[in-house]
Amino acid sequence: MKDFTDTTGFITGGASGIGLAMARALGQRGMRVMLADIEADALASAEETLRGEGIEAHGTVLDVGDPEAYAGVAEQTLATLGKVNFLFNNAGVGTLSPAGQTPVRDWQWVVNVNLLGVAYGVEYFLPAMQALDEPCHVMNTASLAGHVANAGFGPYNATKFAVVGYSECLRQELANSNVGVSVLCPAWIRTRIAESGRNHPDAGRAEDARAGMNPIAELIEAEGLPVDTLIQRAIDAMADGTFHVFTHPDFWPMVEERLERVRADYARVR
Ligand SMILES: NC(=O)c1ccc[n+]([C@@H]2O[C@H](COP(=O)([O-])OP(=O)(O)OC[C@H]3O[C@@H](n4cnc5c(N)ncnc54)[C@H](O)[C@@H]3O)[C@@H](O)[C@H]2O)c1
Repeated sequence: MKDFTDTTGFITGGASGIGLAMARALGQRGMRVMLADIEADALASAEETLRGEGIEAHGTVLDVGDPEAYAGVAEQTLATLGKVNFLFNNAGVGTLSPAGQTPVRDWQWVVNVNLLGVAYGVEYFLPAMQALDEPCHVMNTASLAGHVANAGFGPYNATKFAVVGYSECLRQELANSNVGVSVLCPAWIRTRIAESGRNHPDAGRAEDARAGMNPIAELIEAEGLPVDTLIQRAIDAMADGTFHVFTHPDFWPMVEERLERVRADYARVR
């Protein structure tokens, strides 16, 4: 997908960070955008800001991990905006805690948002996208954490590896169709991801979940790239058919080391 004039995008996690930056970049290129986000205040402010910049922006409060609510929002979006060409399955949350000390509720939260939210988006929008006689694109936000594991990142790594795997399935299923597929695999980007705990469904757990991510906030401060660097790569990738959208060139040895471990273990098969 290269030409965004008179197209419609549905962007989850659109009220801040990567989602909002993508909405702005594609809105500037002629896309009307529907931002879906769990944070009503941030959503209203994002909508107003984008409109003030001359972008046709709409907003809907949605927990992407709630399948019934998501089905209703998808139906409503298709009814009011007529079509969706670009589905950005981007809403995501992170936690940092060791195995054996990670509350089950954290697992459920991260899986619901990071993995099932992506699957629901595809199930609810893909048929309408396939029925369009226009170029369309599904972009899923995984992470470099979908290729490299780090201690303490159990739910995050599990869901991001799953999103990479699921995106590979989609790419195969949608090859030679009007729907392109790509998967974002950024390392640290300057957003509010380290404050994910603000959206924890258990208010009592929010502050601990947030404090647990403090080391990540420090890494983002030290190594984070500006969000617009990622967005430009993602838009270029849509145009040239690149599937994985990576960011930090220096992190390749970590990916390679993992692939080498897989290769070495596989070589032991007799
Ligand atoms: N920032 C990074 O360093 C980084 C790196 C790799 C991947 N990512 C991924 O990028 C995606 C976007 O995150 P970000 O970095 O922009 O962080 P962010 O916290 O700035 O934005 C995430 C947005 O998702 C929304 N959200 C959270 N839970 C939701 C839910 N249940 N339903 C709907 N919306 C919800 C939040 O309100 C927020 O607006 C996430 O999937 C994250 O895992 C981020």
